[in-house]
Amino acid sequence: MSKTAQLKLDDKDYVLPVIVGTEGEKAIDTRTLRATSGYIAYDQGYGNTGSCESSITYLDGENGVLRHRGYPIEQLAMHSNFVETAYLVIYGELPTVAQRRAFSDRLRQNAAIEPQMQAIFQGYPKDAPPMAMLSSMVASLAAHYPQLATNDFEKDLQNFDLAAGMAISKIRTIGAMIYRYQRGLAYIPPKDIPFCDNLLHMMFSELYQDYVAVPEVARALNTLLLLHADHEQNCSTSTVRMVGSSAANLFTSLSAGICALSGPLHGGANTAVMHMLQSIHDEHDDGTRFIAAAKSGTKSNRLMGFGHPVYRNFDPRAKIIGKACDEVLQKLGINDPLLEIAKNLEQAALKDDYFISRKLYPNVDFYSGIIMRALGVPVNMFTVIFAIGRSPGWIANWREVAANPKGRIYRPRQVYSGPVKRDYVPLAQRG
Ligand code: CMC
Repeated sequence: MSKTAQLKLDDKDYVLPVIVGTEGEKAIDTRTLRATSGYIAYDQGYGNTGSCESSITYLDGENGVLRHRGYPIEQLAMHSNFVETAYLVIYGELPTVAQRRAFSDRLRQNAAIEPQMQAIFQGYPKDAPPMAMLSSMVASLAAHYPQLATNDFEKDLQNFDLAAGMAISKIRTIGAMIYRYQRGLAYIPPKDIPFCDNLLHMMFSELYQDYVAVPEVARALNTLLLLHADHEQNCSTSTVRMVGSSAANLFTSLSAGICALSGPLHGGANTAVMHMLQSIHDEHDDGTRFIAAAKSGTKSNRLMGFGHPVYRNFDPRAKIIGKACDEVLQKLGINDPLLEIAKNLEQAALKDDYFISRKLYPNVDFYSGIIMRALGVPVNMFTVIFAIGRSPGWIANWREVAANPKGRIYRPRQVYSGPVKRDYVPLAQRG
């Protein structure tokens, strides 16, 4: 017999089913609680709420484990690449040779941005926030390709392969366009080259001279994107699922996810790390004074890139990215003083009881900014690169919602804490 949980409320016993995931994760199913008892489950910010069952990503924050479709992130970073991992995250299996080729072809064939969509850019101020441009351009894919965005799950799922390939590829191209538009540079169309090389080409090529990435640079970008491919029910992914649950099409749902990622508490942490490292450098500190201040407990002095809402152990992505960072800087012969400061901070924090006792370890954002800086990506584009990397995870989650025959619109409840019923007072009597 399956396990149940008993809840005693007002002298009545309620039996609630227990759900156990494939990795042994346990949840009490409270769905019937309101109907049977009048109570709802309260969990501000959903920190302890399972909002769905998902077979995409397994994350064990206590033990620093991250797996996509069962495959450890360490193995994917070592042996796979972003495009293949994107396929795995979206479709659930590593592709066969033929599937891999068809997926790559779809990405390449749908990489370009049509003139009508290019024209939309002209309406933005040159200094418009990159994530605002990205989210509105991705939303406008729904207007530009209405046949792929019908807001009817059945029809949208029939066209899913094309819409998904288009989304991954075009989010990348739009990202490159944003970089160029802000610099007053013309759109560079994609070429028939691998995904990350193409992103670098579209960002950095000059009119008469194509940028050709050295393999180490393309590989570092590949690793960076792969490490961001999915991360369970984070703020932006949950947003995509929530919007998608209303039967909103893929592009619209992705646009909402991009908006969620634009917030500094989510996608902006690597930018905050760079600002922190730069200010430590400008103040001629080697990190010692900053570490002392970070232990004061004030939010404004936090060691950015340390700590995580779910990892209570090393973020497994941080280990991989730290190594990739060393490799690419060495290859490019870059001696970045900010990297030295970052390493001093990491060494000092890992030995310090304040950080050890609170289980504060480096997260993926601690080193990702340094890699992007080495690749020539400006700080205000960091979150756009993050969005390109996260697109497969968002797409896979949207698909899970759309394909779930038992799915329902996401609609949490609340505990109302406003005024109790009162009568309307006409304006003339309000003074
Ligand atoms: N530096 C110094 N002290 C810290 C830090 C930090 N980075 N993070 C947490 N603490 C302290 C905090 O002051 C508190 O101390 P005390 O127990 O004495 O009051 C204790 O550690 C627990 O803090 P918390 O805020 O309850 O921890 P949390 O798990 O809710 O917060 C966090 C997680 C990520 C918001 C936080 O660690 C933080 O602000 N880190 C810096 C920003 C950052 O790197 N964010 C990126 C996170 S990854 C996001 C993503 O994957 O999308």
